[in-house]
Amino acid sequence: MMPSEQPKEIFLKDYLPLDFKIDSVDLTFELNASETLVTNRMKFVRQSESTLLKLDGEHLELLSVEKDGKELKPSDYQLSAHALVLNCPEESFELVVRTKVDPESNTRLEGLYRSSGNYCTQCEAEGFRNITYYLDRPDCLSYFTTKIIAYPHENKVLLSNGNLVEFGDLEDGRHFATWEDPHKKPCYLFALVAGNLEVVEDHFETKDGRRVDLRLYVQAKNLDKCDHAMASLKKSMKWDEDRFGLIYDLDVYMIVAVDDFNMGAMENKGLNVFNSKFVLAKPETATDVDFEGIESVIAHEYFHNWTGNRVTCRDWFQLTLKEGLTVFRDQEFTADMLSPAVKRIEDVKRLRSVQFPEDAGPMSHPIQPQSYIEMNNFYTMTVYEKGAEVVRLYQTLLGKDGFRKGMVLYFNRFDGQAVTVEDFRNAMADANQRDLSQMHQWYIQSGTPKVTISKHYDSESKTLSLTFDQTVNGKHHHPLLIPVVFNVLSADSSQQGKELLFSVDEADKVRCYPADAGWLFEFSELSETLVLHNIEQDGYLSLFRGFSAPVLVDYECTKDELVALACYDSDSFVRWESIQTLALENLVDNVEVAGNGLPMHLSDAYVKALEANLLDESLDLALKSLAITLPDESYLLETLSNKGLLIDTDSVVAVYDYMKKSIAESFESVLRALYEKMGQPEVYHYGKEAIASRMLKNRCLNYLAKLHEQEELVYRQFSLQSNMTDVFAALDAMKPYNTNQKEASLADFYNQWQTDDLVLDKWFMLQASDQSDKAVEQVKRLVEHPDFHYTNPNRVRSVLGVFGRLNMRGFHHVSGEGYEFLASEVLKLDKINPQVAARIVAPFTQWKLYDMKRQTMMKAQLERLMNSSQLSKDVFEIVSKSLNK
Ligand code: TRP
Ligand code: ZN
Repeated sequence: MMPSEQPKEIFLKDYLPLDFKIDSVDLTFELNASETLVTNRMKFVRQSESTLLKLDGEHLELLSVEKDGKELKPSDYQLSAHALVLNCPEESFELVVRTKVDPESNTRLEGLYRSSGNYCTQCEAEGFRNITYYLDRPDCLSYFTTKIIAYPHENKVLLSNGNLVEFGDLEDGRHFATWEDPHKKPCYLFALVAGNLEVVEDHFETKDGRRVDLRLYVQAKNLDKCDHAMASLKKSMKWDEDRFGLIYDLDVYMIVAVDDFNMGAMENKGLNVFNSKFVLAKPETATDVDFEGIESVIAHEYFHNWTGNRVTCRDWFQLTLKEGLTVFRDQEFTADMLSPAVKRIEDVKRLRSVQFPEDAGPMSHPIQPQSYIEMNNFYTMTVYEKGAEVVRLYQTLLGKDGFRKGMVLYFNRFDGQAVTVEDFRNAMADANQRDLSQMHQWYIQSGTPKVTISKHYDSESKTLSLTFDQTVNGKHHHPLLIPVVFNVLSADSSQQGKELLFSVDEADKVRCYPADAGWLFEFSELSETLVLHNIEQDGYLSLFRGFSAPVLVDYECTKDELVALACYDSDSFVRWESIQTLALENLVDNVEVAGNGLPMHLSDAYVKALEANLLDESLDLALKSLAITLPDESYLLETLSNKGLLIDTDSVVAVYDYMKKSIAESFESVLRALYEKMGQPEVYHYGKEAIASRMLKNRCLNYLAKLHEQEELVYRQFSLQSNMTDVFAALDAMKPYNTNQKEASLADFYNQWQTDDLVLDKWFMLQASDQSDKAVEQVKRLVEHPDFHYTNPNRVRSVLGVFGRLNMRGFHHVSGEGYEFLASEVLKLDKINPQVAARIVAPFTQWKLYDMKRQTMMKAQLERLMNSSQLSKDVFEIVSKSLNK
């Protein structure tokens, strides 16, 4: 990219309120695959001295502009590739802008586009400007009316936001529908859908006795896959009433499933558009993970109706205001629907494997970013998941009731407005009469904080002194308010897990007090010492119970202490965390010896903890499964890099192979017995216990699959074809095999599911993540496959996303072929869909983690991308930041 055309960076500090507001927008769409006409009638009111009106618009053909009934001449305005600028000295006026767009060739999937022959829109973050000229920013709230005109044979269904107010036939053979949204909204919440879709209907009665019609629009072939999504929607509506008193505010709630979608789903007012992946499921085609994903994404989008739509963001720097909060809400929902302990651990796993590395890399940003080049790049794990952790901090500090009071005040104050993260914090503070200003630091501090803890026991005075220190990236910054939920457990083996009694000084009671899951210490300075009195012994520390803050913890403790916590801490998170730490220490040791060609080992401490968890009959099955699962590769990488070690991916692959096989050998009979005990599959049922038992069974299968004598078990499970969870687990367990039977199984699977895109994605995924020595060849074959389409983001993510993220052996092959391949694919994809290309390029951002040889090759590919002409803003931002340019 030439420096002169370098995209410009937008800064939070430059925010200015609107000079004009738009009271109402009246849109008319005349749908046509390649030439859709959009007529946009807007009523403006000027709000400042400035008379210059700059409307955003991109990829548009301008047909005409009319002001107060008079057509303007081209000399009356300025038109560029990004804007339409007019001088408007009037106090108030009406503009009618007519534009033409081309949905058919819109492969960016932003604005109005076609998917499987149907029309749909995606406007967040800045897609509305691809439909018409507008003040495309979230603080511009307006009333929308939308008229859709189209031929009925191709477009039986015509949908937009709000209520249907008129429909009928036109003389020219077309028909129309007019929708009116009674709630003011920013244009990013606008949606239009049209096509020949089928509908599944149900209804929900609100707690104030209103009937809400629920409609799920899907392609005819998918009508049998809607039950779970509909049930999830009803559960979400009920839960939000019960937990937060929030009631739905329109008479109809519509969800549309589309096959081509850049993200998971979109919360458009009254008309959510979903990636099919998060709607369609039946036991034969979807795994437990898919079912859970649907339940939580349906909930997430539904919850946005209050946190995002009724109260929206002032500008895109406030994105975490709606996303962090809504993710927190969907996490709490899933916890209540399934298992709180399991949900918490799964969320922490994801945070550590994906968000921690992001926050340690070149794209690191605070949950409230201070600048961006392409907003779409900031829909990140940091804004979403770390953002949710920060919202959780309020609940931890204020309690569930205090948090709910804060939410009530937030809605009372800001309903119908576009606000900031400070507004949210102030509502929480004021509702609880508490100064929470220190929480601001969590919004502006990037990087994962590290808390270092040491303890000293004095048997004379019977005091236990705990010293806490906080840093970010090795430095002291402004201190963060970090809630540390903890307990001290007896170190006597006869009193396993018993909580020790102690007291704190009167003066300490404001910063250290009993809470739900233990004691809560509000750690708010760079360094603090807390003294616990009247404590009988130097006990074991159970720290950050429930993962009470999104931090790294550095606490040197003995293996005995870890094993004890791993075997019987009553806090499920700390128990799991302790066994993970033992596994991680074992993995790290092995990576070091493997690098020196020395023999690896399975540590005694880890074996002891594994054994105790495997044999503990009282342990929840899902927690047992999580306990015996090794930490993700990416979390190991993160740990190695925190120790300053550069990664040789071949050693890491070898270490995992060794560890899995050794665990399987050491516990073969226990694993086999557990596998049998989890039972033969009966009818699929979606529920906490059933999910847990499949999870444990398939974890056992995955280990057993490493043993030659147990291969039959894997083939048998595959051939039973009971449900997709079990079938997929069997295929996944077969992945390392080099047998005809494996090839035959994959072929069977393909033949059976060839016409089901979501299942076919799994077939692609399995092969793209297959870490064979021919991994690069294999992935190259996959993109040549007739069922691979660059225009379908799910397919692209299943192959290229999976290869870059999960195929260590292929992507990081020492030949550099994996790097070269993925970079070439990014270039191809960037021309088709920049948003998706920017996600696929992400694995390159981590180049500094790897050994020098790999670093050099990865960097060379980044340079190659950087030097290619016509890079999108999306990819440009990520590549240039990775190269620190
Ligand atoms: N707001 C959506 C959510 O629920 C995110 C989203 C959907 C999105 N589609 C998008 C963001 C396209 C950017 C671009 O989280
Ligand atoms: Zn969201």
